[in-house]
Amino acid sequence: MGYHIALRLHQDGYQVIAHYRTHTDEIQALSDLGIKTIQAELSSTETILAFIEQLKTCCHNFRALIHNASSFSRTLDNVEEAAKQYEQFFYVHMMAPFLINQSLQNNLVGDSNEAADIIHITDINVENPTARFDIYGTTKAGLHNLMLAQAKKFAPNIKVNAIAPGPVLFTEMHSQAVKQKMLDETLLAKEGGAEPVYLAIKSLLDNPFMTGVSIPVDGGRRLSKS
Ligand SMILES: NC(=O)c1ccc[n+]([C@@H]2O[C@H](COP(=O)([O-])OP(=O)(O)OC[C@H]3O[C@@H](n4cnc5c(N)ncnc54)[C@H](OP(=O)(O)O)[C@@H]3O)[C@@H](O)[C@H]2O)c1
Repeated sequence: MGYHIALRLHQDGYQVIAHYRTHTDEIQALSDLGIKTIQAELSSTETILAFIEQLKTCCHNFRALIHNASSFSRTLDNVEEAAKQYEQFFYVHMMAPFLINQSLQNNLVGDSNEAADIIHITDINVENPTARFDIYGTTKAGLHNLMLAQAKKFAPNIKVNAIAPGPVLFTEMHSQAVKQKMLDETLLAKEGGAEPVYLAIKSLLDNPFMTGVSIPVDGGRRLSKS
């Protein structure tokens, strides 16, 4: 989804800086288009602060920050392994967005005296959690609450909003049976893809009077998910 968002922002005329952890063909494709890419592991205070310094070095003003990086897996059974998993998910879903937003708030500048944007990509799990993904869900809920708090904190210069996707992209960890269950539970009965998430991002960037809101992009699944 990060690749699609970066590509579509570039196509719509934004100067994009794309963060990645693992270099992939998609990252190479973005570089080939002239998009600046920065590698960073968002797994400790030190690596996150070093990433922020890199951002400040390459650009003084930012129109928007979009927090899309995420770890997704079922909560591990072994409690010591689950503790490590909680720490990893906390860093990528909560600490990194907090430190990046806090550090770059004075570098965020909107167009023509309008507010700039921070957008958190959360999940419909925030509203209706899946029990076996409770580490993922609770840290994403933290990302949602950070959006609400920082909408208050950074007003009126920065709008802070969230987009809560449902299962818009299936992954290799989804079996055929799981995919079918998800489709059965999605009112619009299809895999939405990344473009509807991009359209929600664009609508927030274009709207000068929305802050502190979460937009579900889930084909209606939050209403029927068990
Ligand atoms: N796909 C869906 O259907 C769906 C549903 C609900 C919500 N969402 C949300 O939408 C967003 C995009 O989803 P997606 O499916 O495109 O996710 P994805 O394929 O899992 O990609 C997540 C990206 O985050 C990076 N990342 C994870 N941990 C990191 C860390 N510690 N430091 C730096 N980078 C890290 C990953 O890097 P690596 O490539 O190195 O692993 C990966 O590039 C996520 O926020 C996700 O929670 C997606």
